[in-house]
Amino acid sequence: MKTQVTIIGAGPAGLLLGHLLRAEGIECVVLERQRPAYVADRIRAGVLEQVTVGLMARLGLDARLKAEGLPHDGFNLADGERLIRIDLTDLVGQHVTVYGQTEITRDLMAAADERGVRVIYGAGDVALHGIDSDAPYVTFTQDGAAMRVDSRFVIGCDGFHGPSRKAIPASAAREYERVYPFGWLGILADVPPCNHELIYANHPRGFALASMRSSTRSRYYVDVPMSERIEDWPDDRVWDELATRLGPSAGPMVRGPALEKSIAPLRSYVFEPMRHGSLLLCGDAAHIVPPTGAKGLNLAASDVYYAAAALTGFFAHGDNDGIAGYAAKALARVWKAERFSWSLTRLMHRFPDDGPFERAMQVAELDYIAGSRAAQTAIAENYVGLPV
Ligand code: APR
Ligand code: PHB
Repeated sequence: MKTQVTIIGAGPAGLLLGHLLRAEGIECVVLERQRPAYVADRIRAGVLEQVTVGLMARLGLDARLKAEGLPHDGFNLADGERLIRIDLTDLVGQHVTVYGQTEITRDLMAAADERGVRVIYGAGDVALHGIDSDAPYVTFTQDGAAMRVDSRFVIGCDGFHGPSRKAIPASAAREYERVYPFGWLGILADVPPCNHELIYANHPRGFALASMRSSTRSRYYVDVPMSERIEDWPDDRVWDELATRLGPSAGPMVRGPALEKSIAPLRSYVFEPMRHGSLLLCGDAAHIVPPTGAKGLNLAASDVYYAAAALTGFFAHGDNDGIAGYAAKALARVWKAERFSWSLTRLMHRFPDDGPFERAMQVAELDYIAGSRAAQTAIAENYVGLPV
């Protein structure tokens, strides 16, 4: 098989890129290890920045997002006594949109055929070759048969565990990593949210987040040590813990049976560079943020925005500058989102090694935020997403 761009991975990054390239008339093939049902059902975060909403609008794939997405003009930090409201619209004139990432993936999948985005699901043993050259190729298996696709570029959109990043020689790369000493236990339930806005809470018993998917579906989290087992967290225990940590100021919490419940680790990770020869990395393949601030999908969207512009420049105008500058451009935004996600994680969680001094720093910072429009503006600017 021959095409212009081979995309590995049909998560949000790979699907979005496939659509953007096809919209510019660029040929591409997306190789995905899983089956469609698995991809469409993965549960992930649900806060979209304007960059993500804008890309869906540019593709004309935002009908459901416009109908069902909830514009949020603000969110709250809770410090155990009060809610500190960050008024996004007042502070920076923008809002975020609450719409499940799962729904974005489904919208992109549903439109793939009609837009000519070819996705090969169930692609096994995907391996990259010749990325140092101008003629890379990717081998894989499909229903047991050995396959090969040749293209000018390969784009690694295959998440944290995919093969793309590993194809870059260690001598050409540098990794930065921080693993946090807790995970987030998440629960999804068909109950109305306790508050019409998100609440991130720092309580003596730990972190809690009240989020939502719609006016009838809530998503909540508490942080737990990674040694905890989900079997030891029956629904009632999760609801009790949420009620304690969020406190009465969060609003009335309606309980219901968990539609989904799981524990996810928290990690900050950046891989440099994001391009090696003819291979570009996008999304979780190159970086991970802790979920505090919901930057994961939005960073994948900004990477894809830069990658699509670079590839369009190359194929439509024979311009190599976008490709040459891709890594620096994407990483400049990635590092700022890494910083914000890390700092919000640091502020809102009780770290096991923290002593009285670290705790006093949290108290002082929350108090400063509560009383300073400048501090709130800095948070708001990052939360709605820095410009691309
Ligand atoms: N071969 C083919 N596909 C692969 C392989 C492989 N060996 N390994 C992984 N993949 C696929 C996965 O099955 C998945 O569908 O790559 C895709 C990667 O998708 P995500 O992990 O969702 O990563 P990304 O698209 O970068 O999304 C970034 O969305 O998924 C969230 O937490 C993520 O918020 C982050 C954002
Ligand atoms: C979610 O709704 O799942 C969510 C929202 C905000 C976050 C993380 C997750 O920061």
